[in-house]
Amino acid sequence: MREALLSAQGVTVHFGGLVAVDGVDLEVHAGEMVGVIGPNGAGKTTFFHTLSGVLVPTAGRIAVAGDDLTGKSAHIYAAHGVARTFQTPRVFKEMSAVDNVRFGLEFAGRTRQHAHDAFDDPFAILDFLGLAAVASVPAGGLTPSRQRLLEIGMALGARPRVLLLDEVASGLTHAEVEKTAQLIRRVRDELGLAVIWIEHAVRVLMSYVERVAVLHQGAKIADGDPRSVARDPAVVEAYLGEEGDTQRMAA
Ligand SMILES: Nc1ncnc2c1ncn2[C@@H]1O[C@H](COP(=O)(O)OP(=O)(O)OP(=O)(O)O)[C@@H](O)[C@H]1O
Ligand SMILES: [Mg+2]
Repeated sequence: MREALLSAQGVTVHFGGLVAVDGVDLEVHAGEMVGVIGPNGAGKTTFFHTLSGVLVPTAGRIAVAGDDLTGKSAHIYAAHGVARTFQTPRVFKEMSAVDNVRFGLEFAGRTRQHAHDAFDDPFAILDFLGLAAVASVPAGGLTPSRQRLLEIGMALGARPRVLLLDEVASGLTHAEVEKTAQLIRRVRDELGLAVIWIEHAVRVLMSYVERVAVLHQGAKIADGDPRSVARDPAVVEAYLGEEGDTQRMAA
């Protein structure tokens, strides 16, 4: 079997007495698009923090393309091709949109080998995202939805092999969510990246990913194709009380 691009084994995060992430295993291959869902506070963002070196797990192991990066810094993860967005966008508000994209590359280190020459040019990335017209506009002057797109641009600027998206569609209109989802799929198709995508809009997410992992109280309770995951009794149970989400999943 071919080697996973990203491999998490038994990843656990304790915050004092709270177990925010509880022994999570996840393997993702190049070209895979995997959704991560779970109720509020399930540990999704904390898990992403460990996958991108923002947080060192209390226990477990994380490898990228076979290299064990457990305990390494976010820069090292970026240098190995892991790029991410944040639940609250972290663009540099004073810097122009195009300089924000350039920063992505600075962060990952200029020397990293990569497969996609077209995205060497930060303007090409902005164009792909529909942001070419605002290349020179300070990021703080962009609408919140454009700032979210720009964050994807910063991640793409880092020449990723693995793209981690934390609720990039939150706060967008339904039409914008669909557009963003199509963009993300094009990124995967055209660049062959592995994409791991956390989203609360479960139904949209389920219609765009081939595989979905479900976190509940820190633990992974399901991992499989969206149809079977949506019917999994443990998943339905986890979502009870989260009114709306269960109905959206079943729809
Ligand atoms: N820095 C921290 N210190 C202490 N507890 C934390 C910290 N960060 C997160 N937590 C707690 O860890 C748990 C998991 O939080 P996390 O943000 O990972 O969940 P999430 O699944 O991303 O939730 P949401 O869907 O609301 O974004 C929650 O109980 C949260 O309160
Ligand atoms: Mg979160």
